[in-house]
Amino acid sequence: MQLRAFGATGIDLPVIGLGTWKVFDLPDGEEHVARDVVEAAFAGGCRIVDSSPMYGRAEAVLGRALGGRRDEAFVATKIWTDSSAEARTQLGAQLGFYEGRIELEQIHNLVAWQEHLPWLESEREAGRIRLIGATHYRAAAFDELERVMRTGRIQAIQIPYNPLERECERRILPLAEELGIGVVVMRPLGGEGALMPGPDPRDLGPLGGMTWAQALLAWALADARVHVLIPATSRPEHARENAAAGELPPLEEAERELVARMAEASS
Ligand SMILES: NC(=O)c1ccc[n+]([C@@H]2O[C@H](COP(=O)([O-])OP(=O)(O)OC[C@H]3O[C@@H](n4cnc5c(N)ncnc54)[C@H](OP(=O)(O)O)[C@@H]3O)[C@@H](O)[C@H]2O)c1
Repeated sequence: MQLRAFGATGIDLPVIGLGTWKVFDLPDGEEHVARDVVEAAFAGGCRIVDSSPMYGRAEAVLGRALGGRRDEAFVATKIWTDSSAEARTQLGAQLGFYEGRIELEQIHNLVAWQEHLPWLESEREAGRIRLIGATHYRAAAFDELERVMRTGRIQAIQIPYNPLERECERRILPLAEELGIGVVVMRPLGGEGALMPGPDPRDLGPLGGMTWAQALLAWALADARVHVLIPATSRPEHARENAAAGELPPLEEAERELVARMAEASS
C-alpha cells in the first residue's frame, strides 16, 4: 500500500482507509461483519478508519472490531453537536472506545466550529487528540470550510471527491495544498456506492485488470493534493479490493479522463 504525507503534519498514511457510515451501525448479533471488514482492510494495509457520533452504533462497533489492532490504527472520528456539554460527552465516549486517544478529531459538518475549536485545542494540548479537522459533505458549505482552513487552526479536512463531485478542485484542494492541510476524501464511490456497479469490467479497456471500484479510487488518488480515501463497505471482499487500489500505479491523464467519462455515462 502506498503511503502519502498527510499535509504538513509529518505523518505518513496509507492512501486507502475505511469509512463506517451505515455499514458499521450493527446490532450485537452482527458485529462479526465489522470485525471481518476491519481484518480484511488492515490485512490489505489500511490504517485510517473514520466514524462519527452521527453513525448510530458505528463508533462503538468500530472500537470493538479494532480489538488488538488499536495501536496500528489511525482513528478519525467527529464531534457532531452544537452543545459544548454534549461535545464533551461525545469525546468521553470515544476515549472509551479507542483506548484513550483519537488521532484525528473532526468537526462534523462544521457544526458550531467556533465554539468547539478552543476546546479541541486544549484537548490536543492534553494529548487526548493528535490532530483537529473539519468536514462537510456539500459544496455549498465550502466558503465556510475555507474560512475554517484559513484560521490556521485545523490540520485536516474531509470532503467529497469523485468524478461527479469535483467542486473541491476549484478552491479547497489548492488551498489545502498551500496551507499544508491533510485531505481525507469521503464518498470516493459516489456516496453509498452511487457510482456502483458502473460499467461492465470488460468495457474498461485500457484500465485492464482493475475493477470499476478500483478505477474510481485510482481516479481520486491521481490528484496528488488528496492524501487518503475512506470507502465504506460491509463486505470483506470489497475491503480487500479497495485496499488493493492503493498498490496500483498512478493513472495517466488520459485514463483519468476515461474514468470520468464512464462515470458520467453510467450515472
Ligand atoms: N456520505 C456522506 O455524506 C459522508 C459524510 C461524512 C463522512 N463520510 C465518511 O466517508 C465514508 C465514505 O462515504 P460513503 O460511505 O458515503 O460512500 P462510498 O464509500 O462512496 O460508498 C460506500 C458504498 O460503496 C459500496 N462499495 C464499497 N466498496 C465497494 C466495491 N469494491 N465494489 C462495489 N461496491 C462497493 C458499499 O457497499 P458494500 O457494503 O456492498 O461494499 C457502500 O454501499 C463514510 O462511510 C463516512 O465514514 C461520508
